[in-house]
Amino acid sequence: MKLLILNGPNLNLLGTREPETYGNKSFEDYFSDLQFKFRNIELSYDQTNIEGELIDKIQQARNDFDGIILNAAAYTHTSVGIGDAVAAVHIPVVEVHISNTFSREDFRHSSYISKNAAGVIIGFGLKSYDLAIQSFIDMGNA
Ligand code: DQA
Repeated sequence: MKLLILNGPNLNLLGTREPETYGNKSFEDYFSDLQFKFRNIELSYDQTNIEGELIDKIQQARNDFDGIILNAAAYTHTSVGIGDAVAAVHIPVVEVHISNTFSREDFRHSSYISKNAAGVIIGFGLKSYDLAIQSFIDMGNA
């Protein structure tokens, strides 16, 4: 089972970015923990700040991976293009968010991705990614 964790804009700054909201750990450090915990799964991690690159990576992943764990970050709330890319690929996409977007500003309450996601995991800190991987295992895709 091959899963891609794909992070969007500003998530490269995890660890230093608004730590009260996103925690103190870099994603690279957390990713090592995930690789250790889920040794039986081929996990890959990618990140870009650029909307079109996220679309390219989602499209490419449909040939290379069994599923995507997607945190499109701010583009979640703005990008019809990323929503369409999720609808276009026929591998399951689990949408994740670190913070509870529903307890934050109104503009974070909507998502262009959720409608076509296999599921959505919101608000458990970095643990949201762990739960997403677990959901692939439990759904029998891993
Ligand atoms: C986020 C929530 C988004 O609203 C925000 O723009 C992010 C991160 C999260 O993981 O909590 O950059 O997707």
